[in-house]
Amino acid sequence: MKRIFLPLAAALLAATSCQTSGDAGYGWLKNAIDTSCAQLELTADEIRGTGKLPRSIHSGYEMDFLVRQLEADPATFRDSLRAMAPAEQMGTRRLCGIYDWTSGFFPGSLWYAYEITGKDELKADAIEYTELLDPIRHYTGTHDLGFMIGCSYGNALRLSPADTIKDVIVETADNLCTRFNKEIGCIRSWDFGTWNYPVIIDNMMNLELLFNASRLTGDNRYRDIATTHANTTMKCHFRPDYTCWHVVSYNNDGSVECRQTFQGKSDDSSWARGQAWAVYGYTECFRETGDSTYLHFAENIADMIMSRVKTDDAIPYWDYDAPVLPETPRDASAAAVTASGLLDLSTMSAEGEKYFGYAEKIIRSLSGSEYLAKPGENEGFILKHSTGSLHHGSEIDVPLNYADYYYLESLKKYMALKGISYSDL
Ligand code: GLY
Repeated sequence: MKRIFLPLAAALLAATSCQTSGDAGYGWLKNAIDTSCAQLELTADEIRGTGKLPRSIHSGYEMDFLVRQLEADPATFRDSLRAMAPAEQMGTRRLCGIYDWTSGFFPGSLWYAYEITGKDELKADAIEYTELLDPIRHYTGTHDLGFMIGCSYGNALRLSPADTIKDVIVETADNLCTRFNKEIGCIRSWDFGTWNYPVIIDNMMNLELLFNASRLTGDNRYRDIATTHANTTMKCHFRPDYTCWHVVSYNNDGSVECRQTFQGKSDDSSWARGQAWAVYGYTECFRETGDSTYLHFAENIADMIMSRVKTDDAIPYWDYDAPVLPETPRDASAAAVTASGLLDLSTMSAEGEKYFGYAEKIIRSLSGSEYLAKPGENEGFILKHSTGSLHHGSEIDVPLNYADYYYLESLKKYMALKGISYSDL
């Protein structure tokens, strides 16, 4: 199996390490890490005992704003809009239960903060909030099992190994495999809606759990399902310019029933987070398989992202085809996912410096005062200005737990590539 390309990573490091550990030029990084830890510890304390996890903040939006963003007839989406949060909840922390697709991100962020700093209190919190998710090992109702268990138990296994963790990961991978259909060649994403067999681009992120399960068990069945899903998605989810649809639904014979959006601006648009899931997912597939088809595909998606995101700070608007207006919200979560994927890609691609440079630009933007919260503010979340589902009037220009998770993952990867330790900052 081909893994990280160390000679290239070393060359990259040498080429980019003009500032070294202890250098005052990394004050921004120390501030980012210390702020993140303070926010996570505050949140862990404030939600302790609720049995819930932090997701975002309660919000609500004017219909006119949504109409302007979607450039659509309001009649086509009015029914799908969610209600405004009650006045007394508006602006307060929104918690979620363990079966929410985002439940793994808060424990995962605690694990990354512990990994970066070595602080024992963060490890204790990470264990506590990871253990909350134990019942998910019996759940088969969504494809998001990779997010939920991979980010929580997957990081626990790396940082605090125990035999019991392996069982959770393998059991969950078995459950994810029950959602795979051999004729269609994909894992089914959702059980709601009127689609025959919906598969969303986000599902590429759940494959890591399957690769892990194969490594842990020596059974290639999991990884065969992962690569089959990746190959079908490569064939059916992408346009010639390497942008992708959000949802592809299949007929039972494997032909495509329809290609649509669910969270993007329109069926023809390029939803920002979808493009980010894609570049991250195919980079992961190359790392796991060494198949250069995935590498070239990831490079093409990365190049598309770098040419389509027009903002000065490299933080995309919520959809690449959204109208460019002063009120158009960004999606910091898409930026964080992209940065993390590109940092990995930078160690594998012959054009690694290009991808590293772009990821660094994103990380520096997210670490500035426009996006990084001040300690004690932002309801305990780390980043501001993400967009969950504008199409549904939901979580627009708010913090999101997955933005925080992929931001910390990016900081961790960035430090490893630059040879920076927290203790030297
Ligand atoms: N996986 C759902 C989302 O990206 O919003």
